[in-house]
Amino acid sequence: MSYFQRHIFFCLNQRDNGEASCAQHDAQSAFDHCKSRVKQLGLAGPGGVRVNKAGCLDRCAGGPVAVVYPEAVWYSFVDKSDVDEIVERHLAQGEVVERLVLDPSIGR
Ligand code: FES
Repeated sequence: MSYFQRHIFFCLNQRDNGEASCAQHDAQSAFDHCKSRVKQLGLAGPGGVRVNKAGCLDRCAGGPVAVVYPEAVWYSFVDKSDVDEIVERHLAQGEVVERLVLDPSIGR
């Protein structure tokens, strides 16, 4: 058994050269919201869910992005209700939120 059941990584990368980056879409607020919801729902901690910051995940064109392991499901989200759905369905129950899955062709 792994130490955490699931990990979600949010790209918080900021670029100052005009190129697309997840920070332009307020990825920090989504990360903060996810972290607090996971805690409120009692999902945080060993055997549960870990919410982590990440640098560029190299899929910037779909930003803001997050990826959930061990399923390796990539998401692109718009607002806090999208994040709530990822928390309540995927992180809590292991159900992929298909409508938010990042198109596999989207890269940097
Ligand atoms: S800046 Fe977020 S994936 Fe590259």
